[in-house]
Amino acid sequence: MRQNIIEIKDISHIYSTTGRGLKNISFSVESGEFIIVAGKNGSGKSTLFRHLNGLLSPTSGKILIHGKDVSSNIRYARQVVGMIFQDADCQIVGQTVFEDAAFGPENLGLSFEEVNKRTTKALAELGLIHLKDQNPATLSGGEKRRLAIAGVLTMRPDVVVLDEPFANLDYAGTSELLSAILWLNKAGHTIILSTHDIEKCIFWASRMLIIHEGRLVADDKPQYLLKDVEKFGIREPCASKLGMNIMAWR
Ligand SMILES: Nc1ncnc2c1ncn2[C@@H]1O[C@H](COP(=O)(O)OP(=O)(O)OP(=O)(O)O)[C@@H](O)[C@H]1O
Ligand SMILES: [Mg+2]
Repeated sequence: MRQNIIEIKDISHIYSTTGRGLKNISFSVESGEFIIVAGKNGSGKSTLFRHLNGLLSPTSGKILIHGKDVSSNIRYARQVVGMIFQDADCQIVGQTVFEDAAFGPENLGLSFEEVNKRTTKALAELGLIHLKDQNPATLSGGEKRRLAIAGVLTMRPDVVVLDEPFANLDYAGTSELLSAILWLNKAGHTIILSTHDIEKCIFWASRMLIIHEGRLVADDKPQYLLKDVEKFGIREPCASKLGMNIMAWR
């Protein structure tokens, strides 16, 4: 039987300055799932994701990771849940690609050999090893996003959370990133990915959650939700509009 890695129990988070945020959200995530979190701009996707590794705490309700409350086990939550932020530039911390990806395991206090091994492996897996001495600031948008994933992978997370990973990427950049994400999922990582443009990845997802005005309004297999998405400001994929089967992007 599959295990629940994440359990979200009736969480709310209201930002005091705007009165917006999340309202009464509950769902669980099983090991190995590939979940899309869809919702229009401002619906609450990033706010939800920031709760998954303790960057934000719920105003009420609880989040459990492997049964442990995130609020009192933040370090643990950050090891289990690796986060790729909406703005990959913010995640750059090193002078070279290698240094950047090595930052996490170095901070864990691992041996030089172990840091080297993990970093080399992650950069190779994301197709970035040939860029290891380059300054991260000079990478393309797609390369930066793959570097952010490599940095997260060195921490060996069970869950990889990606906030709008396809924003500003062209067709080739999107395909490469999607291949990397699918490979991660096959390798056993649970994937949670937010997007307002579901067409690119819906074919591959096992489940879709829709967030609307801070509430979870749908949670089902993607194919059952396609005809409902436009009510929530999400574009229905073209193939679905034409009554055709969804085609894979890649
Ligand atoms: N730090 C903050 N303080 C006050 N209000 C905030 C804050 N961050 C977000 N909000 C508000 O909370 C709501 C949800 O924002 P959030 O960034 O989670 O949306 P999102 O679904 O990630 O949007 P996008 O698709 O544009 O990235 C928005 O109405 C936003 O204005
Ligand atoms: Mg966002």
